[in-house]
Amino acid sequence: MSKRILSGIQPSGQLHLGNYCGAIRQFLDLQAEGHELFVFVASYHALTTQRDPLALRAACRQIVVDYLAFGLDPARTHIYVQHDVPEVTELAWLLSCVCPTSLMDKAVSYKDKLAKGFSANVGLYTYPILQAADILAPRAQVVPVGKDQVQHIEITRDIAGRFNHEFNAEVFVLPDHRLAPHAEVLPGIDGEKMSKSYGNTIDPFQEEKALRKRIMSIKTDSKGVQEAKDPETCAVFRIVRALAGPGDARTVELAARYRDPSLQPGGLGFGYGHAKQALFELILDVFREPRARRAALMADPGHIEAVLKAGAAVARAEAARTVAAARAATGL
Ligand code: TYM
Repeated sequence: MSKRILSGIQPSGQLHLGNYCGAIRQFLDLQAEGHELFVFVASYHALTTQRDPLALRAACRQIVVDYLAFGLDPARTHIYVQHDVPEVTELAWLLSCVCPTSLMDKAVSYKDKLAKGFSANVGLYTYPILQAADILAPRAQVVPVGKDQVQHIEITRDIAGRFNHEFNAEVFVLPDHRLAPHAEVLPGIDGEKMSKSYGNTIDPFQEEKALRKRIMSIKTDSKGVQEAKDPETCAVFRIVRALAGPGDARTVELAARYRDPSLQPGGLGFGYGHAKQALFELILDVFREPRARRAALMADPGHIEAVLKAGAAVARAEAARTVAAARAATGL
């Protein structure tokens, strides 16, 4: 049965392989299965940390171009930017009035951001309430995300359930999260979680030469070409496995060469340079079509405008319905 799906990504820089493996690939799978998708750019969320207006505007536009380049189809999927749907902020207020502060105190994303040196503003603190409003506004049933976002979906269920209970009305649908099959938090070039704010990302659209250089800079241990290596602890292998899938011949073969370097053709052993070259070729292969599509999309801003206008119209109509029901339940 077709379900209503929603997810978003913050415009805080170029999309990276972590976003692709955790979220975007799920969007494409769910779109192909015939579900109704709402996919947006979380611009209000980015404002909790972003202070450069030009960079914010450019990143919002770039994410939409990239959504389309990856294969999201505006004829089937509603694509919009969050600030074109102001009903979401009204809903966030209604939700904040039933949200205990203890729920925000527990949110790990806030603590993470503070640990990274971001200022402790109220928007950052109540960020999960805005995320709940994004999800509840179009009454999404399923939210495809990476592992780091699961807590936010749990908070959404909690807030929605409280609202329904406290106002004794079935206003909100409680959503479920969805993880990619074999989901893991993808490591970046330094082995930590791949994240825009760590500066350790890999951009699947990067120009070939620079992309290869980036991949060659992934941190590994210093084992030589003749030594057996552990694929499980190596970022290069983990990225290959996430992109190709654990059962794919390329993954299985690579793991075997890590463990037994003599399997590498040529008989000269297997080093991390070989593994990195395999990853580079895999990225070019997986993203061949998106890379080709992207240039044409970049040259057609009118098309992007039209996509966003159509997406926002649908998202606003759905959000307005939910807000009207929520207002009515409260007595407003
Ligand atoms: P954001 O912008 O940090 O990340 C977007 C999506 O990419 C996933 N992701 C990863 N998955 C695996 N490995 C990684 N290294 C990795 N890095 C990022 C994230 O899990 C996410 O699915 N708060 C959200 C944006 C948001 C949202 C929403 C999402 C706002 N409203 C409503 C879903 C529903 C965020 O900051 O994601």
